[in-house]
Amino acid sequence: MLIAITRDISPNFNQCELTHLDRTPIDVELAQAQHHQYQAALRQLGCEVIALPAEPDLPDSVFVEDVAIVLDEVAIITRPGADSRKPEARLIAEALKPYRELRYIESPGTVDGGDVLRVGKTLYVGLSSRSNQAAIDQMRQHLAPFGYAVQGVEVTGCLHLKSAVTQVAADTLLINPQWLDAAYFKAFRLIEVDPGEPGAANAVWVDLGVIYPSSFPKTQQRLIEHGIRLIVVDASEVQKAEGAVTCCSLIFQKSGKM
Ligand code: GLY
Repeated sequence: MLIAITRDISPNFNQCELTHLDRTPIDVELAQAQHHQYQAALRQLGCEVIALPAEPDLPDSVFVEDVAIVLDEVAIITRPGADSRKPEARLIAEALKPYRELRYIESPGTVDGGDVLRVGKTLYVGLSSRSNQAAIDQMRQHLAPFGYAVQGVEVTGCLHLKSAVTQVAADTLLINPQWLDAAYFKAFRLIEVDPGEPGAANAVWVDLGVIYPSSFPKTQQRLIEHGIRLIVVDASEVQKAEGAVTCCSLIFQKSGKM
């Protein structure tokens, strides 16, 4: 059984952090309606969805992916790179305690879960404006006993590693090679985003299919041509907040290996 932890949209979503985007008004009601469609898509893919309550004082808190890395054996509670987001970590730790033993990233380490792509027993970690080498070193220490390798990857031009690359099938990654060095991922089948859709590399993959945003039709067509089964959702409002579909859930096996 897969669990998907989500959190409802903050009424103060318009005060979210922005790094590479200009601020445009977010329709918070529409954002919540789209979030419900996203939760329905997670259910369609076999997840038991946990919807945590909205946090008015934490504008970015819908982006639960950034505050934890959940593996079968253990979960790491991150220390987000943006100061406004650091208080989110304590709340996600509470939500994850029933499921996993917890480890913590400590200062001076900072890492956003959006910078962490796990493929098998390797964690690729974006070296971005949010995530640093100190956090990578701590992750290595926490995860070496469980047999995981942790590989830093420099990213430029986007917020997170998973803005530039995500998994869409067991052996396949969706990638924008303009924002990172694709050589890190040469062992995989790579599908490149359409050059006119640089933000199109973020997709949620679980065994039954992929949740994909409707705003990238050309890359969507490429995925279909590669035989990827898609559930398409409108993510326009989280995209205005520099979010994407992976950011809005933490997906993991209910029973890990505790
Ligand atoms: N607004 C998403 C982030 O900057 O973390």
